[in-house]
Amino acid sequence: MSVVLICRRLLPAGLAELEGFELRVGGLDATREQLLELALGAAAIIPDPTVPIDGPLLDAAGSELKVVANFAVGYDNVDLDACRERGIVVTNTPDVLTNATAELALALTLAAARRMSEAERELRNGRWSGWDPGEMLGLELSGATFAVIGLGRIGRRYAELARGLAGELLYVSPTAKPEAERELGAVRAELGEALDAADVVSLHAPANPETRHLIGAAELARIGPDGVFVNTSRGSLVDSEALAAALRDGVLGAAGLDVYEGEPQVPQALIEAPRAVLLPHIGSATTKSRDGMARTAARNVVAVLSGEPPLNPVLG
Ligand code: GLV
Repeated sequence: MSVVLICRRLLPAGLAELEGFELRVGGLDATREQLLELALGAAAIIPDPTVPIDGPLLDAAGSELKVVANFAVGYDNVDLDACRERGIVVTNTPDVLTNATAELALALTLAAARRMSEAERELRNGRWSGWDPGEMLGLELSGATFAVIGLGRIGRRYAELARGLAGELLYVSPTAKPEAERELGAVRAELGEALDAADVVSLHAPANPETRHLIGAAELARIGPDGVFVNTSRGSLVDSEALAAALRDGVLGAAGLDVYEGEPQVPQALIEAPRAVLLPHIGSATTKSRDGMARTAARNVVAVLSGEPPLNPVLG
């Protein structure tokens, strides 16, 4: 019976697809050492974005290993070169989380623009002394200029949802997206140009060495003191110290964040930053999306171990 290593946890919708395999489950607190032991003889590994998959872990599994089925659309936790060298297929879970993640990005946009976390903290802490015409003034989004950085599936869906609010809709992408230009009236722009023009900037690019710290102090300053910055992609795309400083100094208006460098640690400076809405990486956390992700990861395992092509190949 082939062994499938579920590094942390797979929801029942995914487990149901894996009958007939020997399942080893690391659990949410699985340590690296435990995973290295559990991997021995595995034909498939199902990690999530918190589990680094590298040469030593692949070697701990050994020659039976055929597929790493990441339980996420992003795969920056997987060393693709190490998988390629060993002939191991890598898959991910696109599509099923597009709506959930784009919706959360829109929620963060609204929450940051209207200072919702800050306002709720005031109320909960008993500091609300009554309606005040000059209190908690935020950015009105109707007619605002939106810039979407990265117009893949999630960015495209965010753009579609934002279309109802946006005046101008800009996008930054390595390739032109004629369909989005036609359907949504989106206009392609260079990064700097988009940051200068936008009231709202939402980041939807993949994490890789080229996008590390794509947004730093200079870029945040270009979004400006009345601008809103939203990140639901990966923390590594943003210099978090620069972001905390920009919020503290009023160089940037507000931020809505779901992802951080070095999760689950969140820099204290960001926790203390005014006008930041901070969520704990829940972009894909709807029941529908997470069940879909579990099913997709499991079905990729089944396909590859049955000798069929992977359904969602990243590699192989
Ligand atoms: C979650 O962060 C994902 O990449 O799916």
